[in-house]
Amino acid sequence: MPAAQDRDPTKLRSHRWLAPDDMRSFGHRSRMKGMGFDDIDFADRPVVAILNTWSEMNTCHTHFRNRADEVRRGILQSGGFPVEIPVMSLGEMMMKPTTMLYRNLLAMEVEEVLRCHPVDAAVLMGGCDKTVPAMLMGAISADIPSVFFPAGPMLKGLWKDVTLGSGSDVWKYWDERVAGNLCDSDWKGIENCIARSAGTCMTMGTASTMACVTEAMGFSLPGAATIPAVMADHCRLATQTGRRAVEMAWENLKPSDFMTEKSIDNGLMASLAIGGSTNAIVHLIAIAGRLGIELSLDRFDELSRITPVLGDIRPSGRFLMEDFQDAGGLPALLARMTDLLNMDCQTVNGVTLGEQVAGAEVINDEVIRTRQNPVSPAGGTCLLKGNLAPSGCVIKSLAADPKLLKHRGRAVVFENYPEMKAKIHDPDLDVDENSVLILRSAGPLGAPGFPEWGMLPIPKKLLEKGVRDMVRLSDARMSGTSYGTCVLHIAPESAAGGPLALVQNGDVIEIDIPQRTIHWEVSDDEIQARRESMPTSIPVPDRGYSHLYAKHVMQADKGCDFDFLVGRSPGMEPAIH
Ligand code: FES
Repeated sequence: MPAAQDRDPTKLRSHRWLAPDDMRSFGHRSRMKGMGFDDIDFADRPVVAILNTWSEMNTCHTHFRNRADEVRRGILQSGGFPVEIPVMSLGEMMMKPTTMLYRNLLAMEVEEVLRCHPVDAAVLMGGCDKTVPAMLMGAISADIPSVFFPAGPMLKGLWKDVTLGSGSDVWKYWDERVAGNLCDSDWKGIENCIARSAGTCMTMGTASTMACVTEAMGFSLPGAATIPAVMADHCRLATQTGRRAVEMAWENLKPSDFMTEKSIDNGLMASLAIGGSTNAIVHLIAIAGRLGIELSLDRFDELSRITPVLGDIRPSGRFLMEDFQDAGGLPALLARMTDLLNMDCQTVNGVTLGEQVAGAEVINDEVIRTRQNPVSPAGGTCLLKGNLAPSGCVIKSLAADPKLLKHRGRAVVFENYPEMKAKIHDPDLDVDENSVLILRSAGPLGAPGFPEWGMLPIPKKLLEKGVRDMVRLSDARMSGTSYGTCVLHIAPESAAGGPLALVQNGDVIEIDIPQRTIHWEVSDDEIQARRESMPTSIPVPDRGYSHLYAKHVMQADKGCDFDFLVGRSPGMEPAIH
């Protein structure tokens, strides 16, 4: 931080709102006073915005009211002026059709809220899945000093003597319920125990993956990603983050100063090394896009082939986030891959990633594996290409049944989600364990919003026979807490005219994960004939945000950002008011 004598308040952004002797600034100051503040509260000191995604409809952020006060304490301790600003909350559990529909809306809100207010720095309070990328995208485009404060995972679930993981165990026990193996009272017991505190899902779902990615990219304080939401350490992290935000304001340390192609690679490798959610790929492409960096699926594939999976964490491993924290957290894991990461990248902390993880110690080699004994030497998540996915698709191979990594089977096609829901458990459905279940109209445009429908349910009649995994293909995403042999993000999606739209029941499809291929065994002539008889128009809603979304959202391989938001923003503030 600059020495006290080197801090020049006239260089603060807020100075231009609050200091001049003109009529508009008089108005700003007088209304501050109307709120009970005095000159000494806000004059010549950094204004730090606490962007809070608290909401009673966001089950993962219930502790954010208190945490905002703890962030505020840190800002005051360091001589800043805290202002809490609510922004849209994207709570994964309650929103329909999917929070992903609104990720870009929150990103736009964050960008504009930062730009239009007298803000010198921001603490971004997010956690539940889409809030993380949305806030980073907005802050990058606003290019105002910002530090991310993650909500932290909830405590482990506990039912009888069974440790439960949110999301993952819901799917698992629901299959048992459908198969007739779980009574009402046990099902209710699980409902009561699986989410027993504030915080985000405590498996390595999208929230925890994105928190780790954010930390690896240098956008949050060291160790932030894994601290459980209800621990005292999390309160202290909030205060530390507030203090650091004030320093960042004096240093004018902006996202454009520390976010680079190399830091994006660090985020990607961290996500692979923890066996992270496939959703991270889409979000990282979008985040990189805001920096003017074109992150391709091929780059993801290159890094996937060299990055070992060291985090043995559910749903692809054995442990939960609390165990990861106790084992040393993300800094300890990153310290085991310094030869792969770009350790010279800068962070919000004012030091390099290398300096940040130096000395981090692994406490438990079972949770954070050694390089000699990884969960997988590489390729935890893979890019597939072929005639069914010309622009690519992904699979979390680590979470798939190894027997299905090479598989050939006949397609059972569902036109859309309602049809799938209506027919999947029909005893007359023509399906067996070798079939390939296909869901279309589930992508960014088709659903719309790119929902997490990619882990199609196993048909009841197969569950009753003991089948627990099948090959499933879709243009949807899947929850980071999901698992199974699910090929996702097929691009282009069916609604955009991708080949997935042309698949028919009985067509033969082959996936070969080791070879990274997906092949649809239909001749080019037949594909052409089917295409000619296919309707081509994409439905666009007449009004509102849905209209904007449908007109501008890009495909999965491009990160699903809006086309008009890609690239570096000038980061300007409104000149006239
Ligand atoms: Fe919020 Fe899983 S529902 S993180």
